[in-house]
Amino acid sequence: MAPATAPHGAPHGADGSGETRRDFLKLTTGAFAAVGVGVVVWPFIHSMNPARDVLALSSTEVDLAPIAAGQAVTVMWRGKPVFVRNRPPEEVQAARATPLSELKDPQPDQARVQRDQWLVVLGVCTHLGCVPLGQKSSDPKGDYNGWFCPCHGSHYDTSGRIRRGPAPLNLAVPEYTFTSPTQIRIG
Ligand code: FES
Repeated sequence: MAPATAPHGAPHGADGSGETRRDFLKLTTGAFAAVGVGVVVWPFIHSMNPARDVLALSSTEVDLAPIAAGQAVTVMWRGKPVFVRNRPPEEVQAARATPLSELKDPQPDQARVQRDQWLVVLGVCTHLGCVPLGQKSSDPKGDYNGWFCPCHGSHYDTSGRIRRGPAPLNLAVPEYTFTSPTQIRIG
């Protein structure tokens, strides 16, 4: 006579084989769940890898040779304006002669440039994001001969540091490197 089978889900015997089967089922389900998550997550991770063309746009090359002393150019980098200014010695001197105690966001000029004459800053006012004036020779440059943001009256100096007005911080310095004495790569 065939032995009676245990009810579904009940232990099969004193050796605990029913528990073992349940553990196996749980493990199997867990493995399927893990595979499922893997399949769902991978496209997200893949889509976060920037394509080559996006990477190329993430840096901007600037030829400094045509920018005469006292002139500035504006280049776009990641959708934001970047001011590149060729500072004459008197502008560098003015920035360095300013005591840090007079600054709202104290930062020595030397910490904001890689080469004395070249100032590279984001052209985005740190108050509410307007683009300050001061790039063209005909622009108002504010009380400190740098940039003036007409939106609410912020004045920046020749190091792009906030000197007066509601902006709380200096114009930000983006990451950049000199790829030659007359060329920089921003980003
Ligand atoms: S956005 Fe520049 S002063 Fe307000």
